[in-house]
Amino acid sequence: MPSETLIDPIRTLAALATQKKTKEIDMNMTVLTHPAPDFTTPDFGAIKSKQNAAWSSGDYAKIGVTLQITGEELAEAADPAPGSSVLDVAAGNGNATLAFARRWCEVTSTDYVESLLEGGRKRAEADGLDVAFQIADAEDLPFADASFDLVVSTFGVMFTPNQQKSAAEMIRACRSGGKIAMANWTPDSFIGALFKTLGRHVPPPAGVASPALWGNRDWIEEQFSSDAQDITMKLKSFNFRYRSPAHFIEFFRVFYGPVRKAFIALDKAGQVALYKDILDTVNRFNLATDGSMIAPSEYAEIIVTKR
Ligand SMILES: C[S@@+](CC[C@H](N)C(=O)[O-])C[C@H]1O[C@@H](n2cnc3c(N)ncnc32)[C@H](O)[C@@H]1O
Repeated sequence: MPSETLIDPIRTLAALATQKKTKEIDMNMTVLTHPAPDFTTPDFGAIKSKQNAAWSSGDYAKIGVTLQITGEELAEAADPAPGSSVLDVAAGNGNATLAFARRWCEVTSTDYVESLLEGGRKRAEADGLDVAFQIADAEDLPFADASFDLVVSTFGVMFTPNQQKSAAEMIRACRSGGKIAMANWTPDSFIGALFKTLGRHVPPPAGVASPALWGNRDWIEEQFSSDAQDITMKLKSFNFRYRSPAHFIEFFRVFYGPVRKAFIALDKAGQVALYKDILDTVNRFNLATDGSMIAPSEYAEIIVTKR
């Protein structure tokens, strides 16, 4: 097994900024090769295990806690009755989970990364909230049909490779008259742009559609309308606030699995190019004028009421 080595971020950022060759840059980087693209049938199982490895690397929990307001706003929009049963799909470390639990819902929090669920468990305990945690693949939910009043996901289910399957699973697990509530980055959002930037340097798996489709109204209607009595979609914005653009890139490179894995997959020159491209992307969105970073990222808050 090749070891995956990330160079020391702070020293490396300084080195990249000045373009100097340093010992840190020369550290033993792993270059992962990419298989020839196959445009026929994507191997969803293989893609999913690679993605699982990405979300398991770094520490997404450090980013998840910064997004808490989006879970709270989704819970308000979904307007759950106290005591409602809620399934949080691809819950990470509990963004939506905690928000619904704070509104007296009976929440089952699921993800396919155990360490993230463990983070959610600790947060629930600290807040005195009673939540059930369970490992689950969003594309194959281990629950009977119509088990939940609400099935929810904040920036989670959108990252599954077999998108039709995970949409069908959310519908199946929700009872008739219940709600499917989601927050999904839109294609033109800052995070949509970040993924496009990553894709220019490390090609995404062949045959897998963009996660940002989940922020597109037509696509959502295609997946959900035959099972829906109503679909509402509201565009909102979340501000990514960091000390500086360099702080954001450093933080995502160390803790955000997809960005971390992209850097690991590149050689030194590739890392420098990716770093510069991400910096350009941040600068396109950044509203701050004091050297810090405030990058608004548009997302769709979607409520589907099941027929
Ligand atoms: C960007 S994070 C969002 C986490 C959380 N919902 C939040 O709002 O902070 C994406 C999450 O999706 C999870 N995920 C991706 N594909 C999954 C799958 N097929 N089954 C279960 N979880 C999945 C990852 O493990 C990760 O926790």
